[in-house]
Amino acid sequence: AFRTLTCSFSRRPEYIPDRIPDPSYVRIFDTTLRDGEQSPGATMTSKEKLDVARQLAKLGVDIIEAGFPASSKDDLEAVRIIAKDVGNAIDEDGHVPVICGLARCNRADIDAAWEAVKFAKRPRIHTFIATSEIHLKYKLRKTREEVIEIAREMVRYARSLGCDDVEFSPEDAGRSDREFLYEVLGEVIKAGATTLNIPDTVGYTLPSEFGQLITDIKSKTTGIENVIISTHCQNDLGLSTANTLAGAHAGARQVEVTINGIGERAGNASLEEVVMALKCRGKELLGGLYTGINTRHIVMASKMVAEYSGLHVQPHKAIVGANAFAHESGIHQVGVFCCFVSLFLIVPSDGMLKFKGTYEIISPEDIGLSRSNESGIVLGKLSGRHALRSRLLELGYELNGKELDDVFWRFKAIAEKKKHLSDGDIEALISDEIFQP
Ligand code: KIV
Repeated sequence: AFRTLTCSFSRRPEYIPDRIPDPSYVRIFDTTLRDGEQSPGATMTSKEKLDVARQLAKLGVDIIEAGFPASSKDDLEAVRIIAKDVGNAIDEDGHVPVICGLARCNRADIDAAWEAVKFAKRPRIHTFIATSEIHLKYKLRKTREEVIEIAREMVRYARSLGCDDVEFSPEDAGRSDREFLYEVLGEVIKAGATTLNIPDTVGYTLPSEFGQLITDIKSKTTGIENVIISTHCQNDLGLSTANTLAGAHAGARQVEVTINGIGERAGNASLEEVVMALKCRGKELLGGLYTGINTRHIVMASKMVAEYSGLHVQPHKAIVGANAFAHESGIHQVGVFCCFVSLFLIVPSDGMLKFKGTYEIISPEDIGLSRSNESGIVLGKLSGRHALRSRLLELGYELNGKELDDVFWRFKAIAEKKKHLSDGDIEALISDEIFQP
């Protein structure tokens, strides 16, 4: 049931400039199909990956990291299919997403990535090597000088293949020695890297720290003004969205995210959280930052990724969780505030029922959600008389005071046993013999 894009495929990559060269524009780099797919048990078929990539294009994602081509023949093929299809499907505004493939800093990986992405109109190779002491010592068993040499050579090699868009990541940047980091970054810029991604690989940094890291990289890395700085924040301490926003505020103009925040261990910064935070607060508090995402396609993307990856979204997940727009408490539904004029005067406002902004900072329609009922309210044991009356009216029942009292107390009795009352339950209450004409 998921809709598809039409595709006009041409073999010759041609340069299509960035959609918006505005300095306040934040590019959305989606890595659901690469880092997201690395979540345990989240493997998707090639057909599913293509569906997801088409949905990401519909969302208006700027860069799609479609996979890690050297990891398997299947992955290489899936990335190639996406590059040919989505990487050539220019939308009505003349935009086509960059299609990116991940590669470790070695020739075989870079060749595989290029073999897969070169069919896209805007191909990108993303190559990485670790820079933290702990990774150098226990994983790479290499010196700092060796790491610099490999990074420089491999960025040069990727460019030599004809790829004019090369991203470089110093893995575990969040725990890397700063001076060494600036040096590596400066060298890969000289070698031709066009985007420098700063991964907090183990989700270790705090937002103020990560923001400062981006600020320092901006001021201390030679040649940085010619490249785009990117963030890649893992969620091990539950800080990935906050760190990503801190990075963007400090000057990063690409953010790496995944749908539903899926990814290794505790996942990545989630696309929907970062995009909606920028939409909601970007103008006011984040220096006017904005993205090109058509947020009305978020829910569809979330459902698709949940279904294909088998990673279900927790009900209280921000933006896309089932409860994200559900209001049950009578306080939220009716709203009560104390009037300071008299300590004894409690004035009920109409809260959610009269003005949704009382408890809703985002409208469900903005992310492509249709309200299951006009008020968007879930009835349960915390719901008040006012909420019930409002729902009954929406269902077409206008009760007098006495009738409403009776239904309300029977409703409360059922709600004590049943978590949420559906419209069917409410109808059943109403059709009880007492209320038959
Ligand atoms: O978490 C990480 O460091 C990565 C890099 C490859 C960007 O996924």
